[in-house]
Amino acid sequence: MRVLITGANGLLGYKLIQLLSKQSTIQTIATARKKIGQLPAHVTFCELDITDAEQTENVISLMKPAVIIHTAAMTNVDQCETDREGCWKANVTGVENLISACALNSCHLVHVSTDFIFDGSHGPLEENAVPNPVNYYGESKLAAEKAIINSTISWAILRTVLVFGVTPDMSRSNIVLWVKKSLEEGKTIHVVNDQWRTPTLAEDLAMGCFLAAQKKATGIYHISGEEMMTPYNIAIQTAEFFEKAKKELGYQPHTFKEGLAVLASQLKSR
Ligand SMILES: NC(=O)c1ccc[n+]([C@@H]2O[C@H](COP(=O)([O-])OP(=O)(O)OC[C@H]3O[C@@H](n4cnc5c(N)ncnc54)[C@H](OP(=O)(O)O)[C@@H]3O)[C@@H](O)[C@H]2O)c1
Repeated sequence: MRVLITGANGLLGYKLIQLLSKQSTIQTIATARKKIGQLPAHVTFCELDITDAEQTENVISLMKPAVIIHTAAMTNVDQCETDREGCWKANVTGVENLISACALNSCHLVHVSTDFIFDGSHGPLEENAVPNPVNYYGESKLAAEKAIINSTISWAILRTVLVFGVTPDMSRSNIVLWVKKSLEEGKTIHVVNDQWRTPTLAEDLAMGCFLAAQKKATGIYHISGEEMMTPYNIAIQTAEFFEKAKKELGYQPHTFKEGLAVLASQLKSR
């Protein structure tokens, strides 16, 4: 089966290329706006800017993938607010171009969407929960979902949450890398404690996309990590894991025995 990946140089795109290239039954086609340095053997590369309708149609018609896994997007939430036109072009027009190319070439589209189509006021949410985006990124991703749902092509939409991971050549950060780097640099960070998210390892999301592609699954799927955590919890656990809390925050917990001694002396002086 031929599978084409958009945004192959992004976090998810990279993990997908690594995963798919190991599957003997899959021929992987990596696409990105600019040439990718190193690709695994037997992965074909094509330059593709999804906002270019003609290029999108040409590449898809030439490569004739059975499935397209669409990971490319403008993912920086703040940038989407300040460059609304660019955001719409990448996140909505790009998807419309892919829908047309899929229709012409009978491709199945696996589209990656986000929990930002919801307002985050409660959770966990079922696939049929009513969307209510509170930022432009969420609005653009919801518009893309609607374009896909209203199309005649075969599709699956995978909504995911707070993806974390690392690639050799990363231009973007994510919550885990940001917390680690900030603490290593001795910076104080402010992290909210009133939002609940299910952080998702990029490798897990790639596996979800692969399974959806393999099964040509149709419909909407929520694909994320299993644990509900606040960004504050995520930051604390990250700090503890990398043992930086002690060094950078001066946090020095007692051993259990020392803790018992503290408690004993307090009991004595009551
Ligand atoms: N990261 C998260 O926390 C998160 C959460 C929920 C949903 N998602 C969704 O998951 C998907 C993958 O996200 P990610 O974390 O892998 O994002 P990412 O690391 O920011 O990668 C996005 C990729 O899209 C590419 N791209 C942007 N505009 C393009 C265009 N016009 N044509 C071709 N490629 C273009 C970028 O290429 P350049 O390098 O050339 O800019 C980049 O490689 C996205 O659809 C995102 O909305 C992500």
